[in-house]
Amino acid sequence: MLKLLDSYAKKQQVLPRTAIDLQQNIQNFVVARDGDKLVGVVSLRPYGEGFFEVRSLAVAHGYKNVGVGSRLVQELLNRARSMEPPAVNVFALTKRPHLFQRLGFRLAYRERFPAKIWTDCLLCPKYSDCDETAVEYRL
Ligand SMILES: CC(C)(COP(=O)(O)OP(=O)(O)OC[C@H]1O[C@@H](n2cnc3c(N)ncnc32)[C@H](O)[C@@H]1OP(=O)(O)O)[C@@H](O)C(=O)NCCC(=O)NCCS
Repeated sequence: MLKLLDSYAKKQQVLPRTAIDLQQNIQNFVVARDGDKLVGVVSLRPYGEGFFEVRSLAVAHGYKNVGVGSRLVQELLNRARSMEPPAVNVFALTKRPHLFQRLGFRLAYRERFPAKIWTDCLLCPKYSDCDETAVEYRL
């Protein structure tokens, strides 16, 4: 998981994660496998009050554009639907809004997710010139 995420973090396509971070949050991850090979990963980050962020979505080269990424996000939505207490909102900041919109997410203002802004966005060099689109799925 770390290797896959690292390869995209180097290209600034996902935020970097550390081994400790993955260990501590392993229960929030869903992975896709082809036999023994890990080919995709995604995680759901809780923010409180029923809000969750889709983060660390990555699919291995050679497995892209065949629906793996979409299925990973779909599986996170399934998890969110069966949570207790119930999840109310699953959101993402993404350069691939179409992928999410095809799964029922709608465009949103990132200001709807202040906890995300305080934890990640304010540290980002692109804060005032953000090239990501906010999308949300209201449950
Ligand atoms: C972004 C990423 C996770 C997508 O994974 P993927 O497995 O290729 O995703 P999918 O196969 O489900 O969808 C990819 C493309 O396949 C096509 N596709 C897949 N399912 C489709 C369907 N049912 N109908 C039409 N087109 C479809 C689309 O062109 C789609 O691209 P779009 O959503 O931008 O329009 C992958 O490219 C990746 O790892 N990128 C680097 C890391 C990254 O950018 N992560 C952040 C993502 S927010």
